[in-house]
Amino acid sequence: MPADAESPVLRFDRVSVSFDAVTALADVSFQAYEGESRVIMGATGSGKTVLLKTALGLQRPDSGTVYVFGKDISRMRERELFEIRSKIGMLFQESALFDSLNIEENVSYPLLNQLSIHCPPGDVLPRVEEALKFVELEGTLEKFPSELSGGMRRRAAIARAVVTQPPLLLYDSPTAGLDPITANTIVALIVKERDLNKTTTLIVTYRYQDGNLVANFRYNPENGGLERADNHTGSQGGAAAPRTLFMVLREGRLVFEGPQTELEASTDPYISKFVKHRG
Ligand SMILES: Nc1ncnc2c1ncn2[C@@H]1O[C@H](COP(=O)(O)OP(=O)(O)O)[C@@H](O)[C@H]1O
Ligand SMILES: [Mg+2]
Repeated sequence: MPADAESPVLRFDRVSVSFDAVTALADVSFQAYEGESRVIMGATGSGKTVLLKTALGLQRPDSGTVYVFGKDISRMRERELFEIRSKIGMLFQESALFDSLNIEENVSYPLLNQLSIHCPPGDVLPRVEEALKFVELEGTLEKFPSELSGGMRRRAAIARAVVTQPPLLLYDSPTAGLDPITANTIVALIVKERDLNKTTTLIVTYRYQDGNLVANFRYNPENGGLERADNHTGSQGGAAAPRTLFMVLREGRLVFEGPQTELEASTDPYISKFVKHRG
């Protein structure tokens, strides 16, 4: 457990967001610490995307406060927000690659366009190549998104999200529309990024298997694969995976926040809908 003195990477304090008559987020509070994961589930329209956009400062809360790296971003000016946003990576729903740009241009975009990054021109291509290597997409620099498979596009979008090495990463439905095997490879990349860089990770998903991987597996740098973590010893020895909490939204309300065991034990019909029991 994090020490009290350690400030959360992301904190929502009674955050509400509404659009005309629709309440997208209602009084949502939580805090996420360095290296932790949050698996966010909920029905369509329950506020998952709005929550991520609010964390990024793209959406302002109507009430409540959002703190990112300890700073209140809720009423921050755009210019200051740029600074904060350069430390947050976001994978938007449907990947949202720029169709008219090739993969090199897509992945270099945050390096070149985020005002506070100041990446020296000579470093751009090496960093893009490194990010593409990370997602095992070397050799696609010249390709356009339409020339890649759905899984490859998702990998390219991950490369674009991690290229600036942000300490906070937000993934909106990174496995939606993918077959189960490809989906698992995408989650493996997310876990690898989390464990190599101690990234605080929020991931929106409908697939229980995604949350299961995030909560129970960790990256093994020796063989480059995922291995089952031992989460029950509670030791510091590195055998455990970083803490993962599940969050379930319903009509903008955070109706559940807790570890996987608690989620699986829930008897609430709405909450248990998101749990796929094995066996
Ligand atoms: N820009 C917007 N204008 C109006 N309503 C919006 C806007 N963005 C989201 N909403 C509404 O807010 C609610 C939550 O949306 P969203 O966070 O996108 O849901 P989801 O959980 O499917 O990601 C929905 O009712 C949606 O219609
Ligand atoms: Mg959404």
